[in-house]
Amino acid sequence: MADTKKLYIKTYGCQMNVYDSERMAEAMGGAGYETTDTPDNADMILLNTCHIREKAAEKVYSELGRFKGLKAEKPDLKIGVAGCVAQAEGEEIMRRQPIVDLVVGPQAYHRLPEMEAKTQDGAKALDTDFPEEDKFEKLKNRPKAKRGPTAFLTVQEGCDKFCAFCVVPYTRGAEVSRPVDRVLSEARDLVERGVREITLLGQNVNAYHGVSGGGDKTLAQLIWELDKIDGLERIRFTTSHPNDMMDDLIEAHGTCSKLMPYLHLPVQSGSNKILKRMNRNHDRESYLRLIERIREARPDILLSGDFIVGFPEETEADFQDTMNLIEEVKYGQAYSFKYSTRPGTPAAERPLVDDSEASDRLYRLQALVAQQQREIQDSMVGREIQVLFERAGRFDGQMVGKSEYLHAVHVADCSAAIGELAKVRIVKSGTNSLAGELL
Ligand code: 5AD
Ligand code: SF4
Repeated sequence: MADTKKLYIKTYGCQMNVYDSERMAEAMGGAGYETTDTPDNADMILLNTCHIREKAAEKVYSELGRFKGLKAEKPDLKIGVAGCVAQAEGEEIMRRQPIVDLVVGPQAYHRLPEMEAKTQDGAKALDTDFPEEDKFEKLKNRPKAKRGPTAFLTVQEGCDKFCAFCVVPYTRGAEVSRPVDRVLSEARDLVERGVREITLLGQNVNAYHGVSGGGDKTLAQLIWELDKIDGLERIRFTTSHPNDMMDDLIEAHGTCSKLMPYLHLPVQSGSNKILKRMNRNHDRESYLRLIERIREARPDILLSGDFIVGFPEETEADFQDTMNLIEEVKYGQAYSFKYSTRPGTPAAERPLVDDSEASDRLYRLQALVAQQQREIQDSMVGREIQVLFERAGRFDGQMVGKSEYLHAVHVADCSAAIGELAKVRIVKSGTNSLAGELL
């Protein structure tokens, strides 16, 4: 048998890329590769990239520059670029960085083993197609290796919303949902391998409508199917669009005990003028009404959001509308970004906000969100909650897990094992995590 080769994968960006990297590693496992956590001894380096903001895309080129020396020492080393930068920039990557042997887009990576074989013959390989065939079907034979207690599972990809700032509809393509039975069999397989919590992934996951024998199923219906799987204890999903938050999904938050009380529901801005220019197709009032309904269904739900500051023509008054929306909603978690111009998107043509003004707004917004996060986290002290233990901590006997609300919880002298769900009393709130004791 030929020697096993080593594959080093570096993942940038979102959780879907984390999932895709796992699947690419498995696909390359079939081609004689095992993963390594350092590029130094690798036979192949694969960067799974993100194109969402300019900085993320530029990181790829600086990282590739760092591999020049390695490639010079080891000419057989294969270097590949996958993910959304691969999709968006294709051949441009090979032009800018000739050490790259292979470029593969997010919809074509089931073809990675064939592409790698081509590079072994000294050729370059590029595939940024949106093929007819289902990549997940081609990849379906996952090895039966044991897994940790949490896993991501992609159920939907792509986006038809075309927010004016966003590259996703171009890099990931149109909205596509995976059929219900395929999702369920992948979930059962994960549970057999030790997974207790599954996070369903999609760029617009709540727009899910997977084919199933008797017609399409919604995300809520899929969640109820997953709820029946013994051994699966927790279900989460991300990322959702406010306009796809259907009644049955809101209701499931109140009635499905496996569905965790955490919802990432980006609004991007609190100003109706900016929401319109962003092409969000909802306004501030409809978002706030939606939050009210979700909280009626599940009063303790922890809300998370995404915000963009400094969107073209955002005034201080528009920004204040975002700040007071945040005050009204009270987020337990939030991701905020300075607007980044993405070539090819409608907003790219519009006049920019002064950069130092945008930085100042980002600073003020992050301070407000940090204060809210901390208040919500502090309010957990004294409460008894369920923790799913995921790993050993830094100190002897310490274990780390996640609460229902996705807070990291540390327990000292902990007798719970990895993969165990246990009741914990929260005793302390730290900068980014909670401390508790087993009950
Ligand atoms: N500039 C800044 N942030 C962006 N996002 C998407 N596109 C851009 C952009 N051009 C943010 C949005 C989205 C998150 C994934 O990234 O907030 O919800
Ligand atoms: Fe991008 Fe908007 Fe689609 Fe989210 S909903 S992926 S922000 S276009």
